[in-house]
Amino acid sequence: MIGKICGTGSYAPKKILDNHDLSKFIDTNDQWIRERTGVARRHIIEGETTVTMAVEAANRALKDAGVNAKDIDLLIVTTVSSNVILPCTACEVQKQIKADNATCFDLNAACTGFLFAYNTVQAYMQTNMYKTALVIGAETLSELLDWTDRGTCILFGDGAGAVVVKGEEEGFYYGITHSQGEKGQALTCESRHQKGFGKTILERDTMMKMDGQAVFTFAVRNVPKVIKEVLDKGNLHPEEIDYYILHQANQRIVEGVAKRLHIDMEKFPMNLQEYGNTSSASIPILLDECKKKGVLREGQKIVMAGFGAGLSWGASVFDW
Ligand code: COA
Repeated sequence: MIGKICGTGSYAPKKILDNHDLSKFIDTNDQWIRERTGVARRHIIEGETTVTMAVEAANRALKDAGVNAKDIDLLIVTTVSSNVILPCTACEVQKQIKADNATCFDLNAACTGFLFAYNTVQAYMQTNMYKTALVIGAETLSELLDWTDRGTCILFGDGAGAVVVKGEEEGFYYGITHSQGEKGQALTCESRHQKGFGKTILERDTMMKMDGQAVFTFAVRNVPKVIKEVLDKGNLHPEEIDYYILHQANQRIVEGVAKRLHIDMEKFPMNLQEYGNTSSASIPILLDECKKKGVLREGQKIVMAGFGAGLSWGASVFDW
């Protein structure tokens, strides 16, 4: 069997923090953030949690797919920001949406999480182990950020996205995944000693740290390469792809990838300006928006690519 995405859903917290709001408590400004990153605003939890957002996105995806929660046999949540360590977020979501027949686990591959989970679902479906999967990317990054570090906190936001994947006898899919632990120090988070935006930070040294330029260079070099690798597997040329759905980390990274592939930016939908980088939630949120807007249509060839901490990166190509 090959998995086909048959429903999408997403959720973003109601509270919005725009670049002007940030400039009230850190030394930054709207122009700098827009020019260097493309981000204009981000959604930040206020009452919501990773679980509540995941549940909302999941219910919306199930409704969109016309699938009953009881028919889900595999439920994966990708997150670096679970409410608690145990039980895993996927089991909490299972309980709340009553997906009683699902095997549930979390997957942490940082911003590549959703892409890795999607490839994992496909691998399971190729062995006929599961038939109907729910994959959710859900993140409350605002709880991991040092809100005094202007080089990092301006980039990220909270949110959740979900897809329902159904196994079909025929279909088109190829996937590639990579990791390089040796370079892991470029983006780290040792613990979370801040419980939310605006709260007192207890141990700043252990919060999210990033060598922005190292991550930038890594992404612009490796994402075009992995896309070419997966296209070669599928015997396709970059111009044969209808849309490239990339992890939304930085507009300049996406532009750099498009340039290296010699593909027009029109084929790279973006919503980073509205959400910032929502880590593993960014791809499913973007898929949901593109589906709702009618951008994605049956039969189109889609490339999905993720990259992030680990370091980790990967791509897949499939029919919508
Ligand atoms: N507002 C204003 N000035 C800022 C700033 C901010 N928010 N953050 C940094 N600066 C300053 C720096 O202090 C530096 O000043 P200096 O020249 O006086 O020393 C200057 O701007 C340039 O900083 P630099 O870090 O070189 O900027 P950059 O062009 O590399 O942009 C990032 C920084 C973080 C936006 C960029 O490196 C990036 O996006 N990297 C990828 C990060 C990413 O995507 N991570 C997630 C991957 S999943």
